[in-house]
Amino acid sequence: MDAQQIQQITEMTYALRNPAGVPTYPIIFIGLGVLTFALHILFVQLLLGTSVVALYGAYNNDAHWRRLGAAMIDIAKVSVSVAIVVGVAPLLFVQVVYDPHWYTSNVLYADWVIAFVIIMILAYWAMYFFYFQNYKREDKTAEPKSRWSLILSLALFLLVGFIMHSLTSQMLHPEQWQEWYMPNGKMDYSGDTLHAYNVWRYAFFISMAIPVTGAMMVTYRRFKMVREDADMAYLNFAAEVGKKWIAVGSIVSFALYVAWMMTVQETSGGFGTSLWAMIGGIAVLLPAIWGAVRLKGKSYDMCSYMALPITLVAGLIVAIAREVLRYDILNGFFGYNFFDYKVVMDWYSTGLFFLTFAVVGGAVLSYYLTIAWKAGQTVGVYTPSATVNRMGTIAIWILIIWMVQFFAIGIYTWVQ
Ligand code: HEM
Repeated sequence: MDAQQIQQITEMTYALRNPAGVPTYPIIFIGLGVLTFALHILFVQLLLGTSVVALYGAYNNDAHWRRLGAAMIDIAKVSVSVAIVVGVAPLLFVQVVYDPHWYTSNVLYADWVIAFVIIMILAYWAMYFFYFQNYKREDKTAEPKSRWSLILSLALFLLVGFIMHSLTSQMLHPEQWQEWYMPNGKMDYSGDTLHAYNVWRYAFFISMAIPVTGAMMVTYRRFKMVREDADMAYLNFAAEVGKKWIAVGSIVSFALYVAWMMTVQETSGGFGTSLWAMIGGIAVLLPAIWGAVRLKGKSYDMCSYMALPITLVAGLIVAIAREVLRYDILNGFFGYNFFDYKVVMDWYSTGLFFLTFAVVGGAVLSYYLTIAWKAGQTVGVYTPSATVNRMGTIAIWILIIWMVQFFAIGIYTWVQ
């Protein structure tokens, strides 16, 4: 590609940019995008990994595996909802600062973008079908019914992930958009072709499900061991599987990460051997290194709760490296710099966003999490204390106040 062609691509992407500008500094969108992507991919990995444990447990006659599988499907179904909710956030951020790339990529394979939603609903239904077929059974060691539906669910979720991966890959190839849109000089309106992907990159993100789920199983033992009815033989079994998954999973993920770095596109300007690529690689090994040091002897009990935050930190560092890669391609080679987006400062919406995040999210989430935490550690029916009930009342009031201000400001700006 010569300088003139690159110049044309730079002008094309700037022409596609929203002239209205953005309501706060672009770096805030990127920062929140990276953070929420790290959360999204963590829960995606949890949902995939715990589903695999549930499936393995369903096909294994060992009583411990059966119980572990039954416990993990509970985590899988909650993780799906969290993954979807925290998937919307990076979607909002990426489409603000990289709107020319994100929307072109969406339009180029619109059929798959729409199918994404339908496939995800089917995948979630299939998972719930398996759950509803089995959750009432007293004997968690008996063979579960409708195991096929869990296989179907997993396959569909993997397809959903591939669509997402392809969408993010296409936006990194502005040099090919015209060819994809008009192959051999003829317009292609179909929107049904997946144009770009890197199997190593996709496999890497999926493989991180192994250490992440390992961390969940270690945490599971720690969480349940304080109950009066704790079966330590079973819980120790779960944590031993978890420790193995952390160690082996990190190494598998590392190998796939190296394969990804060796195959990054040329327009990244040698990102695969850059400092950020190396920092990302070390981060992938972090859970295994940490597990080998902290998950033994006395520190085992003390540190188990750290297992998940460690995988989150690893994922966050990888998410930063992934963002630097995007910047190196789109700015470094194609001259599109998100930093120079026109800013039309809107302090109210920026302030409201952070306040909502901290106050509304904080109050409601801490109430939910307290209830879930205490209920999980109680034998029989859990009755919340007066303090916990007060937390619930405060959360509801905060939500009401938020809604009132939302409509009040809306009506005020409308009548102005
Ligand atoms: C529950 C099934 C899902 C799976 C298995 C999944 C999987 C993935 C994977 C593997 C990636 C990384 C792609 C890459 O960088 O190569 C990704 C990124 C992403 N996903 Fe999901 N995802 C799911 C649901 C969703 C949902 C429901 C949304 C939002 C509506 C969403 C929004 C995103 C966004 C915005 C990105 C990153 C975009 C970017 O910054 O380039 N995902 N997802």
